[in-house]
Amino acid sequence: MGAVGVLTAGGDCPGLNAAIRGVVTRVGADGVVVVGVENGWAGLMDGRTAILTRDDVRGVLSRGGTILGTSRRDPYVHGDGLASVAATLDRAGIDRLIVIGGDGSLRTAARLQEEGVKIVGVPKTIDNDISGTDVSIGFHTAVQIVVDALDRLTTTAESHNRVLVVEVMGRTAGWIAAYAGLAGGAEAILVPEVEGDYEGLAARIKARHRETHDYSVVVVAEGAAGPAGDVASSGTDIYGFERIGGVGPAAAIRLEELTGFEARPVILGHLQRGGSPTAFDRVLGARFGIAAAELALAGESGVMVGLHGDEIAPVSLEEACREPRLLPPERLAEAAWFFA
Ligand code: F6P
Repeated sequence: MGAVGVLTAGGDCPGLNAAIRGVVTRVGADGVVVVGVENGWAGLMDGRTAILTRDDVRGVLSRGGTILGTSRRDPYVHGDGLASVAATLDRAGIDRLIVIGGDGSLRTAARLQEEGVKIVGVPKTIDNDISGTDVSIGFHTAVQIVVDALDRLTTTAESHNRVLVVEVMGRTAGWIAAYAGLAGGAEAILVPEVEGDYEGLAARIKARHRETHDYSVVVVAEGAAGPAGDVASSGTDIYGFERIGGVGPAAAIRLEELTGFEARPVILGHLQRGGSPTAFDRVLGARFGIAAAELALAGESGVMVGLHGDEIAPVSLEEACREPRLLPPERLAEAAWFFA
């Protein structure tokens, strides 16, 4: 039996190291070699790999980011597709690969799998928008970071009688905005799944300030439509990945115009992806890592591990990549009971 390769690709998030540790520990227990691939697909394109032992993953549980490094380089977009990937796999003696990635990386994994590479996927993204799992690694920690920020922002909003508009991540789905908004007591959330009604929101804020509290905190997902109806974007990064963001400042300007109250934007940005994972993300990462290792050891391929209730079960990579997992209307309705 050849080695099991492991890589982390796409945007990082807290909990990745717990998953890598799970893979290394479980695969190693069967006496099979684990090879770590540096910087996501880039390591396979450039031939940068190294054997990972149990010693390499000691003390990593509490560390954010990924000890393997990550990138948004993609063999089909920035390389020669399967060719250099297959050459590296061959040279490193890897005959099965565990890919810890978001929707883009898992789509690439599905494509390589169709071309014959044996792959097991693990879902990670703070956006929580991967189908085939109830939750992805990183989401829980990001929500906690936003809630901590909302707790702080609420007291300063209150002192100054301001409207604070907090922009959070969430390109296609408003999971972070909805969960953090609910847990942090936001007066409103704006998400990509629902058309923004700035006039209606302004009327609600005015009534709230008049009748009960003269401050408000609004959480807006970066992928939500702004006051002009479009999604704010600032071009692409060096890999051609669209940089979304900027709706917060635009929403604050519009809400100030409509309400007459001073409004200030706060963009939380990459803070949401950094630092130590919550216990939930450490456990989820560990469980996903072990489950992916067992599937790879059993010779399974073309599947992703997913959490369903409290159980982990494989779903096909193809199903996981088909559609983004959007926030269901029921979650929004629950959060909305507490809105202004
Ligand atoms: O996909 C996860 C995510 O965190 C998005 O919410 C965000 O739009 C994007 O990554 C930012 O990516 P980068 O780190 O490349 O700026």
